This record gives sequence, structure tokens and C-alpha cells, in this order.
Amino acid sequence: MFSKQTYLRRRESLRKSVKEGLILILGNVDVPMNYRSNTYHFRQDSNFLYFFGIDHQGMAGVIDIDNGRDYLYGDDVTLDDIIWMGPQPLVSEKAASVGVDHSASSQGLYKIIEEARKAGRKIHFLPPYRAENKLLLYKLLGVHPDELAAMASVELIKGVVALRSVKEDQEVIEIEKAIDTAWLMHTTAMKMAQNGVYEYEIAGAIEGIALAAGGAVSFPIILSKHGETLHNHDHSNKLNTGDLMIVDAGCELSSKYATDHTRTIPVGGSFSQRQKEIYQIVLDAEVKAIEAIKPGMTYQSIHYLAAEVIGNGLKQLGVMKGNITDAVAAGAHAMFFPHGLGHMMGLDVHDMEDLGENHVGYDDEIKRSEIFGTAFLRLGRRLQEGFVLTVEPGIYFIPALIEKWAGERKFKEFINYDKAQEYIGFGGVRIEDDVLVTGSGYRILGKPIPKLIDEVEKIVKS
Ligand code: GLY
Ligand code: MN
Ligand code: MN
Repeated sequence: MFSKQTYLRRRESLRKSVKEGLILILGNVDVPMNYRSNTYHFRQDSNFLYFFGIDHQGMAGVIDIDNGRDYLYGDDVTLDDIIWMGPQPLVSEKAASVGVDHSASSQGLYKIIEEARKAGRKIHFLPPYRAENKLLLYKLLGVHPDELAAMASVELIKGVVALRSVKEDQEVIEIEKAIDTAWLMHTTAMKMAQNGVYEYEIAGAIEGIALAAGGAVSFPIILSKHGETLHNHDHSNKLNTGDLMIVDAGCELSSKYATDHTRTIPVGGSFSQRQKEIYQIVLDAEVKAIEAIKPGMTYQSIHYLAAEVIGNGLKQLGVMKGNITDAVAAGAHAMFFPHGLGHMMGLDVHDMEDLGENHVGYDDEIKRSEIFGTAFLRLGRRLQEGFVLTVEPGIYFIPALIEKWAGERKFKEFINYDKAQEYIGFGGVRIEDDVLVTGSGYRILGKPIPKLIDEVEKIVKS
């Protein structure tokens, strides 16, 4: 948790984005896994954390634009709660710790909302993503859960996005602290990538590192020798020397700021010649994209730049052909790079995705492409100093996609299908780092996780 002044300042800034009425920001509650008292790992809502800072279940915050007051609602623990779960500060004490003068029980939340509704005041809320909060909003506002997303306040969403997009120095410090743990997760995965080891042994070990640092993973670990499946959460395979293993993993420590890195590792410690060739193209794309980052550039143009590096590299190998700028504009590169270059990162690994990807990554100037592949780019708009984003190009040989497009002879002027089919079974390569947009350019965040071919081979062999 940051200082009381941080939360006061953030709420004061948020007030300016909304003309009138009440802003309602709901925290999260515990969610049952298989019965009521056996719950999933608790994760507080990131907007609530950002503006109210309290990492505890069952809280809600209200910012009254018209009278200038902030309120915190939640129920104090009972003696029964204390017996089972230990003592807790009072809600009023929690409120005071984040500069909120007015607090009341959860019944108070119903009361203030009911009074505001009776007075015909506007109640601004964010799109809910959990069933529990959809039900709560239904009870508070009488809006059917299926209609809540459409009724969410665009004014408020835009205000939250404007604030959370530009990271404060103290937020960047938290991200970099978490990257120390991410470094240990990824270098441990490299050392464990040996013949005969099962993927789940490595996934378990690196998730344990996040837990042992007092945190958790920032998203379910993607770790597989079938890296051609972009978000592969199956960890059941036994590794063999010569396999390529993708590890896309991150952590969040007590502050809840995320990390998100991907490395591609040769099992046993030696890339084959063919693996080196593809790996080096992805690394070149990643490095060139990072070097292009500066305020004022659109991330969409940097995505295209990375796609061109990938296209030109594949042309050198005979997999693609023709004019690569035209190929990228048409979307032919997406056969091998079918996702976006990256996304914002902060309190969420895909930062603010609950608020709507287009509100976060696009604006009136830069619109999302409708072409397969580029359409999946989560961040396209102009970069500003203080943005934290991921850069994560990849090359994948996805058998089902190659077979489908080959059957249709799709983009036959840009893709050499005979050559592409030779790579079926190759898997995939992705390399991902977390980058801060600075006043003059960029800074790759945190302790560098090895990514050069020689460096990665050396660690695996060590
Ligand atoms: N961790 C998933 C991603 O890189 O977007
Ligand atoms: Mn990732
Ligand atoms: Mn990512």
C-alpha cells in the first residue's frame, strides 16, 4: 500500500473526469471454488486497489462529485470472524489509512445508493467482470446483470484509463521489485529444462518461487514444448533434448503490480541450427520494436515494424516471399505471428482490460485493425511518457492454420507453402519484456532476464 496522500491525490484527479453524481467502485469478495468456505485465492479488484488501496474482501468505495466527500463501506469483523480468521482493523481505521473520512457498514452502501437513485442522481460504475459484483450491482441499481456492461459509465472508464495508463514512479518501483522474482522464475525454468523433466515440474517450481516471495503468479503459467499453442496451460508433457519450451510467466507481489515475460528455451541447452534461425528473427523483432519506443509513436506502427522484421526474416529462410511491406499490410505475416505485439501492464497483467480493450488501447485517432492477427493487438494508440507495456513478438508454426491456408492457397503470393509445411512440428518462439516509455525513449524494466542465444544456452547447461 502506498501513502494516504497517494489515494487522496488519485481520487481528487478522478473527480475531475466526471461532471456530476456518484462514482461507485466495488472491491471483490471471496469466490467459492467447490463449496462456500473453500475459496479461490483472493484477488482484490485493481481499480479499487488503485483508488482505495485496501486489499481486503467485501469493501466498496463511493466518491461523491457533488459534495466532495469519499466514503468506504464494509462490515467490521464479528467475534466469530476473529475466532476463525484473526483480528482485523475496523472499517473506519481502514478508511482513515487511505484518507477517507466517512465509513459505514455494507447496509450504508445500500442507503447512499438508494437515496441517490431517489434523487435522480447519476451513479457512475465500471463494467463488472465477476458474477458476485454483477449481482450486487443488480441489487443496488436494479439493472439486469446482462445489461450492466452497456450501462457502465464511459466518462468514468475514460477517467480511470487516463490515470492508470501513466505510471507513477512508485508504481514502476513496485513492478521492478516484482521483476527480481520474475528473473528467478525464468532462470530457474532455464536450469530445469533438461531431458526427462515434465513440464509440470517446472511450472510448479516457478509458481512456488512467486508464492515464496509473498506473492502469486500474475496469470496462469503458460509453459509448454507446444509453444505453437499461444496460451498453452497444459503442462503434462515430458521434455526431450532438442525440444523448444516456451515459458510465459509473471508474478505479482504484495503490491499486486504484475510482471509478464516470455522466454523460449532449448531443452538440454543447445538450439539446433533451424531453431537458432527462427529464434534470432524473433529476437531481432523484439529488439527493433523496443528501440522504436518513444512518446508520440503509435504502438500500432511499432507492431507493423515488428511484423516486417518477422516477414523479412522468414523471406530470407524462403518461408515468405514477395514485397514484405505489402504482405504485412494484407495480413499474410499473421500465419506465423497471429497476435499483437503487446499490451499495457500495471496492476493487471493486461492492464485495465476489464474496462474494455478499446478504451485502453485505442482512441479517436487510432482504430483497431479488422485484419486477422493485427486485430488482436491490444494496444495501438500513441505512447506517452509513463506507459508500461509489453513487447512480445513471436513466430509459430500452427499445423491447423498452415493446413487451412495452404488448402485455400491464401496469400500464395506471400507464403511459400512447401517451405512452411517443412516447419510443422517446430513449435513456436516468443520473447517478451516489460518496457517503460520514458521522456526520450524507453527503458527495459528490471534485472535483465537472459535472452541472447549464447546466454540462454549457457544457463540451461549450467
Ligand atoms: N501473459 C500473456 C501475455 O503475454 O499476454
Ligand atoms: Mn506474457
Ligand atoms: Mn504479455
